[in-house]
Amino acid sequence: MDPLTAIAWPLRTERLRLRRAVASDAEPTWTWRRLPEVAEWITRAPGDVETYRAQFTDAARLASLLIVELHDPGRPGEAGLPIGDIMVRVEDGWAQDEVAEAARGTQAELGWTFHPASQGRGYATEAVRAAIGACFEPLGLRRVHAGCFAANEPSWRLMERIGMRREEFSRATALHRSGVWMDGMNYGLLAEEWTP
Ligand SMILES: CC(C)(COP(=O)(O)OP(=O)(O)OC[C@H]1O[C@@H](n2cnc3c(N)ncnc32)[C@H](O)[C@@H]1OP(=O)(O)O)[C@@H](O)C(=O)NCCC(=O)NCCS
Repeated sequence: MDPLTAIAWPLRTERLRLRRAVASDAEPTWTWRRLPEVAEWITRAPGDVETYRAQFTDAARLASLLIVELHDPGRPGEAGLPIGDIMVRVEDGWAQDEVAEAARGTQAELGWTFHPASQGRGYATEAVRAAIGACFEPLGLRRVHAGCFAANEPSWRLMERIGMRREEFSRATALHRSGVWMDGMNYGLLAEEWTP
């Protein structure tokens, strides 16, 4: 079952539109995901667009990805331009065996990348807030969470701006492709902590 079908797409905010990703979004998302300053922090950084497209169009991955399009009244010439993507991967909460069924599909892991040309304007804050809002209502999830390298300050600052709570700071737990074991951070937010 595809949990995100319960949301009435697209989601609209003051300056943005969020819709589900389709296979043809491989090329637009590649325009920012291939850039070193974006690739540095994300899990996969293939060196060519063919490999990227094969990974991007994996059915499970595509089903959990949203595309953020610009609809900023202040930038009318760029209306509809894809500027970022947000992962919303619905998953099971941790549970003991006897109650595991009750924890199925109760939370979502989030992730995000935005084009550097569209950073520093609050678009990521606006878009991630909309995605989180949809996770709680209508999806009815009880928790969202996300992780990042501790050195990725823009990402954890985004989470703190949104009101996510730092749940973990771990020493040298995440191996960066540079070969360095880096510190990691995890943030979470419960439905009852969310202010729409
Ligand atoms: C993480 C990432 C999405 C954050 O982007 P961002 O541009 O810093 O976030 P926002 O779009 O919310 O913009 C916030 C900035 O815009 C400023 N801003 C301007 N207008 C704003 C507005 N209307 N509302 C909120 N912030 C606004 C804020 O002050 C803030 O700047 P600051 O950090 O200098 O204080 C971006 O750095 C990115 O894509 N990084 C590469 C990929 C990555 O690391 N992904 C996460 C892996 S864990």
